[in-house]
Amino acid sequence: MHNTILITGGAGFIGSHVVRLFVKNYPHYQIINLDALTYAGNLENLKDIKDQPNYKFVKGDITDESFIDELFATYKFDGVIHLAAESHVDRSIMDPLAFIKTNVMGTAVLLNASRKYWKDNYEGKLFYHVSTDEVYGSLGEEGFFTEQTAYDPRSPYSASKASSDHFVMAYYHTYHLPAIISNCSNNYGSNHFPEKLIPLAIHNIKNNKPVPVYGKGENVRDWLFVEDHARAIDTIFHKGRVGETYNIGGFNEWKNIDLINLLCMIMDKKLQRAPGTSAQLITFVKDRAGHDLRYAIDATKLNKELGWEPSLQFEEGLEKTVEWYLANEEWLEHVTSGAYQDYYSDQYQKR
Ligand code: NAD
Ligand code: DAU
Repeated sequence: MHNTILITGGAGFIGSHVVRLFVKNYPHYQIINLDALTYAGNLENLKDIKDQPNYKFVKGDITDESFIDELFATYKFDGVIHLAAESHVDRSIMDPLAFIKTNVMGTAVLLNASRKYWKDNYEGKLFYHVSTDEVYGSLGEEGFFTEQTAYDPRSPYSASKASSDHFVMAYYHTYHLPAIISNCSNNYGSNHFPEKLIPLAIHNIKNNKPVPVYGKGENVRDWLFVEDHARAIDTIFHKGRVGETYNIGGFNEWKNIDLINLLCMIMDKKLQRAPGTSAQLITFVKDRAGHDLRYAIDATKLNKELGWEPSLQFEEGLEKTVEWYLANEEWLEHVTSGAYQDYYSDQYQKR
């Protein structure tokens, strides 16, 4: 079962952790990492496993139908773990069409190729779609997203992910394509591109630059260590029930401002600054358009059915993350040179 696996988006933040885990844990699988290497894709994330005999990288675009068809014919995939996406909400507000193209069309192209190549012989095959809790919309002060919560996406990013989820389920119901979806909360950890809150704040604190907090910092996110997400994907891929959706999260809600204050304390300690020094960099800026107030995942189903649970407390995970960024200055320098500077001034200068 599942001998040759296509992992899309494997050069990105979460994808690189998933690729590493599969390459290391399943030496008898062939892992093909397909990634277009957009600004968010970085092969440096995988330099430790690049020469493993069960790993191969292919550069390509999931929206390119004939290329994807050829890839399926060449490698005869048994499983697909689909992570490739445009993933940043702020960029989706700047350029929604790029999100519709990659997240909706790209997913549809992969679904279509799986169906064509597997030719209704679905024994031992699986299409696993990695999605987000943002498809459920925004919560008030109370309650959780469960697998039964109705979809209510509000940003171009979440609308494109919701649409891709619907296509996955449409292929399952219409063509019986064996598919599973998981919807995860906010991830943090190593190799996270510094346009997202935690790595951006670490980078700015280190460089004594303002740390931009949208609005009053009262929005709440539910944070999960990226390696725990990768383990959940492994568990669901191998033990999940076809046609099901699984929510993934660590019951770990933080107001943005509380999280940033905690991060500032950790940074003060690690950089041997006087307590309170980094917090002086906090700068409240114009809010994100349509900013969802609160996300909170109920991951009971995944825990009860498949036995998964997070391995780390947030404070411990955040400290590990800070240590990784401080030890990997070269990685941060490489990804923040060039085009990153243009994005940064477009996004923050006007705020
Ligand atoms: P990321 O932006 O770090 O990585 C995305 C990867 O996809 C990059 O390597 C990029 O080069 C590649 N890619 C983009 N467009 C492509 C295309 N057209 N063809 C081939 N490759 C392409 O994203 P991430 O944070 O690692 O997220 C991975 C997946 O997990 C996404 O589907 C995202 O929606 C989902 N997700 C992310 C989070 C989170 O907190 N980051 C939480 C839940 C779900
Ligand atoms: O919930 C899962 C989602 O989490 C994933 O599907 C997305 O791919 C991922 O990017 C993430 O989306 P968010 O929009 O929640 O993440 P981001 O790191 O961009 O923002 C986290 C919170 O911090 C959010 O409330 C906005 C706020 N923020 C963000 C940035 C970049 C700031 O206050 N200042 C900032 O500079």
